Order: sequence, then C-alpha cells, then structure tokens
Amino acid sequence: MDKNNVKILVVDDEEGIQCVIEGYFQKKGYEVYTAGNGVEALKILNRVEINCIFTDIDMPIMDGLELAEQVRLIESSLPVVVMTGCPSLENSIQTLKNGVVDYLIKPINLEQMELTLTRILKEREYFVENLILKEEIKRQKRLHQLNEELLRRVEEVNTLNRVMEDFAAINSSYDMYNKIVELGVEELKADQSFFHIYSEDGNCLVMVAESSVGNSSNPTLKLYGKDIPEPVKAFILTSLKKGHSPCLIAGAGRPDIMGEPIRSFMSVPLKIRDKVFGVASAYIFEAGRDFSEQDLYYMSFIAQKAAFAIENIALYENIYENLFSTLFAFVTALEARDQYTHKHSARVSKYAQLIAEEMGCSEEELDVIDVAGSLHDIGKIGIPDDILLKPGRLTSEEYETIKSHPVIGADIIGKLGLWNREKEIIRHHHERFDGKGYPDGLKGHQIPKLARILAVADCYDAMASDRSYRKKMDKEVVVEIIRDNAGTQFDPEVVEVFLRISDHGFL
Ligand SMILES: [Fe+2]
Repeated sequence: MDKNNVKILVVDDEEGIQCVIEGYFQKKGYEVYTAGNGVEALKILNRVEINCIFTDIDMPIMDGLELAEQVRLIESSLPVVVMTGCPSLENSIQTLKNGVVDYLIKPINLEQMELTLTRILKEREYFVENLILKEEIKRQKRLHQLNEELLRRVEEVNTLNRVMEDFAAINSSYDMYNKIVELGVEELKADQSFFHIYSEDGNCLVMVAESSVGNSSNPTLKLYGKDIPEPVKAFILTSLKKGHSPCLIAGAGRPDIMGEPIRSFMSVPLKIRDKVFGVASAYIFEAGRDFSEQDLYYMSFIAQKAAFAIENIALYENIYENLFSTLFAFVTALEARDQYTHKHSARVSKYAQLIAEEMGCSEEELDVIDVAGSLHDIGKIGIPDDILLKPGRLTSEEYETIKSHPVIGADIIGKLGLWNREKEIIRHHHERFDGKGYPDGLKGHQIPKLARILAVADCYDAMASDRSYRKKMDKEVVVEIIRDNAGTQFDPEVVEVFLRISDHGFL
C-alpha cells in the first residue's frame, strides 16, 4: 500500500506524544489524525476511512480498551494497536479480547512503531484479499448450485409441458390410459408401467393399459385381486431386495411378479372429485437404479392432470351423446310425421357406413358418416309443413324451398361447434359429381368424399321407398339407375363399391 494513501489515527491524552508521532509519520508521507480520547477518535472514524489506530489505554471520557471494543463492533477488520506505559497481564488479556492486534510499550520507539504499522497493514491486506477470495469461492459455489437448480427446474417445466401437450391432444378415455403408462416409461424411465381402474363394488383393480421398454424379458404381472382397500395414497419403494414383493397398495394387494425381481416401485392413485378412479404404477427391474421423490412428483402430476382430462372427456362424451340423441330425436319426429320418410335417415346412415367401410374408410370417418347420415335432413325442420308434407308433386318454387334444407341443416350443426366435418357433409349431400347439384354446385372431388358416399346412399333409399307421388321402385331398377348415373350424378368410384355391396346382397 502506498504510504500517501495510508491514514493513521493516533489517540493519546498527552498532546506531546500526539505531536511527536504526528510529525514523524507526516514526514514519512502518511496522513495522520489525532484525538485526545476514545470519543474524539470515534468522531474522526465517522468521517475518515482510517487504516490503522494507535491508542493509549488510560485516557479520560473513553479509554483505549473501550475504544478498541467500539471499533471492533463498527469495523472488525480495522487494526487497533495499543500503546501502554505499564503493560499488565490483565490489560494484555483485555486487549486481546477486544480484538487489538498488537501493543507497543512506552516510551514509543517511532521506528519500531513504523515497522509495526507496515507489518499490520500488510497482514490486513492479505486478510482482506483472503476474505474476498473466500467470498468469491462461496459466491461461485452458490452460483453453481443456482445454475443446477435452474437447469433442474427448466427440465421439470419441460417435462410438465410435454405431459400437458400430450394430454391436450387426447380425446378419449382409452387413449388417456395408454398415455399415462407411456409417460411412465418415457418420462420416468420405468421398465414397466400399468394403469388399473379401481372397482369399488368388486374391491378389485382391473388392468386397462400397460407399457414396457422394448420387448425385453418382461415379467408377467397380475395386479388385480379381491379385497383390495381403496388405494388412497401415493407411495414409492426403493432398493428392494431380491424376492421382495411390494404391495400395490400399502398394506394389501400383493402383485405377483414372475421373473426378474423388482428394484423400485411407485403407485399413485388417480382421483376424480376425491374418489379413487384408478391407480397408475411403475416398476424398475434393473439393479442399481431407483425411482426418486422427483419421479413420484411427476407421476402424481401425470395422475392429477389425467384425472382432470378424463373427467372432461367423460363430460364431453356425455354432452356429445345427449346432443346427438336430441338432434336425432328431432329427425325421427320429422320423419314420423311423414309416413313415406319413416326411418329414412337411420337407413341412409347404415347404407353409407356399409359403402364407406367397403371403401376402406377409417374408424373416425365411419363415425363421422354415422352422425352425418343420421342428421343429414335435419334442415327440413326449417321447411314449412305445407311444403314438406304436401302430397303429390311440388311446384318449382316449392322445390326451391326444399332445396334449402342442406344449408339450414349445416347451419344448425355448425352452430354447435362439435361436428365440423359432419356439417360439411350435410351441406353437400345433394351436390352432383357433374357439378349440377346444390347448394354450391361443387364438382367431382371438390365434394367431400363422405358427402359423395352419402349422396348414393340417400338416393338409393329414396328411390327404394314409397313416396306420396309414386310407389317404391324395385331394387334392381334402383341399382340400374344408380349405375347409369355414375359419372354424372354420382362418383363412379362410390357407385362401383355400391354395386359390389348390392351384388353381395348386403342392401
Ligand atoms: Fe336431403
């Protein structure tokens, strides 16, 4: 440290001593402050950043030992050197207690005093450096810990987001059960994972989904049984010994594991409105690896979110079923008023499904055409009775009114927001392959495939049923008309499949 920057404070009630020391050190380039007692010294310390204090012990108002004590409380690293004429054992002990770093015997040897000052300042410099270094190490360590914690949190949030995204894409309870066990294997790194539904009546667990890593030698598990108490708690078992058979539910329901011993096991109940609905479980067979509390947390999160999603799906399925039943009741009521169209929509739906199945449509498409077929004429609700129920032929004006039913029907279904594909099929079930149909005059493959199928089924049933203005045609005649209109009114591909079904006598 440069002498010019060193500030020392000399505290002594003898002005002569103050002057001598001040003169000596000023000449050497130090900045020197003087005080006659401890109180004056503290005032100086309040305004000046002193590097070292030399103080007498016996002084009026506040003595040197009390000053040392005060300094220790204010700035513990500020060195205090005591100057005393008669060093006693008691004083020496007290000075050490008060954090005094050294003491000098009066009369003071100024050179000795300077050497002491130099040594103390050097020591203080090392001490401060050491302190900073220690703080830095502590800070780095804390930073490292925080960084690790942050990474762990990010990973946790990512995992939870993945779970939420996966669940958001699911719209059936069955798929949800499978997703729970898939997540058990993928996210929790379980060797095998199960989902059981808890049957309150039968006091048993019924396995509905299972997933495992690859096709490695999986043990055969039977995790169901009678007299199982309600699995209310989530729990984890780790470091299991060979031959240990953990209970699926604490206290009961021993799973019978054949093959490799279980190393670690987790079980989490899935509750809907506080009632246990099912149990998700996960197993590790590999020695040396265990589930952690974090894994149990993830599993509980999965179970909780799945429970919420399953409840929503159940509610949605219920609403969907109810709505469909209500709308179909409208269609049935409409048809019941007209003896000629009785059960027309139900038959159209059946024929359309037969054709769609033969054309290789997916399960989802079959469901769509089932709903669309059943509700395709629901727009007739908006047609006045005197036109709808008019016996005999319609005027061209009346026919135009009837032609509005696909648009009215699509509008009704569209407003519900549940059946967008069905809405399109209902709107276009009177389009023609050659573009001469209604309401939009769509042509060829512009018309949705399922609407092209529905058009054939609809016309077949209409022609094969009695109408107020004509008797029903023979089946052979109807089939011939449909064959003749392939490529004009109907999609030839659909007609080809229709003829095949007809030949096989399925209609
Ligand atoms: Fe129609």
